[in-house]
Amino acid sequence: MDKSYFDNAPCRVGSDAVKYYRGKDVLPMWIADMDFPTAPSVEEAIKQRAAFPIFGYVNDNDAWKEAVVSFFSRNHGLSLKKENLLFSTGVLASLTATLLSLTSIEEEVIVCSPIYNCFFSCIEHTGRKVLDVPLLEEENDYRFDFVALEKAFKRSRLFILCNPHNPVGKVWEKEELAKLVALAKENGVVIFSDEIHGELTAPSHPYHSLFEVKGAKEVALLADSPTKAFNIAGIQTSFLYSENQLIREAVERQLGYDDCAEPNSFSLVAMEAAYKEGDEYLDALREYIASNRIAAIKEINSIPGLQVVGMDATYLLWVDCSSVEKDSRKLSCYLLEKAGLFVSDGAQYRGEGHIRINVACPRVTMEEGLKRLRKGIESYK
Ligand SMILES: Cc1ncc(COP(=O)(O)O)c(C=O)c1O
Repeated sequence: MDKSYFDNAPCRVGSDAVKYYRGKDVLPMWIADMDFPTAPSVEEAIKQRAAFPIFGYVNDNDAWKEAVVSFFSRNHGLSLKKENLLFSTGVLASLTATLLSLTSIEEEVIVCSPIYNCFFSCIEHTGRKVLDVPLLEEENDYRFDFVALEKAFKRSRLFILCNPHNPVGKVWEKEELAKLVALAKENGVVIFSDEIHGELTAPSHPYHSLFEVKGAKEVALLADSPTKAFNIAGIQTSFLYSENQLIREAVERQLGYDDCAEPNSFSLVAMEAAYKEGDEYLDALREYIASNRIAAIKEINSIPGLQVVGMDATYLLWVDCSSVEKDSRKLSCYLLEKAGLFVSDGAQYRGEGHIRINVACPRVTMEEGLKRLRKGIESYK
């Protein structure tokens, strides 16, 4: 597969894409959704399923589980056991089921901001409280505040890990993950490890699953999905993995109560095809995104007042705009209204003074977006 597959992506204007809801005059670089077609294997599997015109209730199967096990063994050297895998309609559905089954109302749940905004809403919508232990920002990098985390782990029963970390794009090192596992074990805390961006790292810098750490299997739940890497978020499909039977069964029951444990007619075939036959696509995609990232970082850093916080994962760039405008909501609204560019306001992730820019689009689209960014920032000043 060569880069023309991504360069020649079909235009989504006027389609059902939420990313394009502002219409043709706004260039969308906000939501974590790529403008690329999915892998040919996924497209083919969906077409084949669609050709059989009965879409009744779907039975769970082993084929997707075997595909997941094989993928993680091939690509990450992990030996997962298929009997410990659970289907869920989405990572957030899994998180909600975890919150409801493993914590109580009013209990504090740990996150490290800036972090994916929906974690806050899942915690709050289930009546739990956010215990935020902000990441430390240092020399254009982020790291965990282990001193503060040590205290927080004594007060809570659940830690939400974003690995790699959205929005800062950080690939956590194995030593950092091992420290989290040690803290979890010491304090009886469960780690919900959201690894949905795991396949979207620079080719030279693969991420480490939390399950690579010895002891993680006793305290952790892995929540993952092919929806980000294969651009199939419109097909609700994901999985949960835990080797701790008590944790797994509690969450499984809750997924059932919440009606999030039932696949639709495309969920399992798409997941199976992605993990079974998607490696070539992923390799090419990662190259393409890495090349976009390098070009975008160079361009953005040449715009006076902007600085990309340089990370290696996800297709989302985390940009410090505080020397242009500390109120990133105001700046992102201005870019949307006056420059025709839709970026994400960092404040929603508790990352005030930053904007998040999605570069998972054909290079020409990205270049046009960055032109609008430059013009918008210049006129804002
Ligand atoms: C870190 C993270 N987790 C979860 C999700 C959403 O996952 P799902 O659509 O499977 O609920 C996103 C989407 O952007 C995300 O960035």
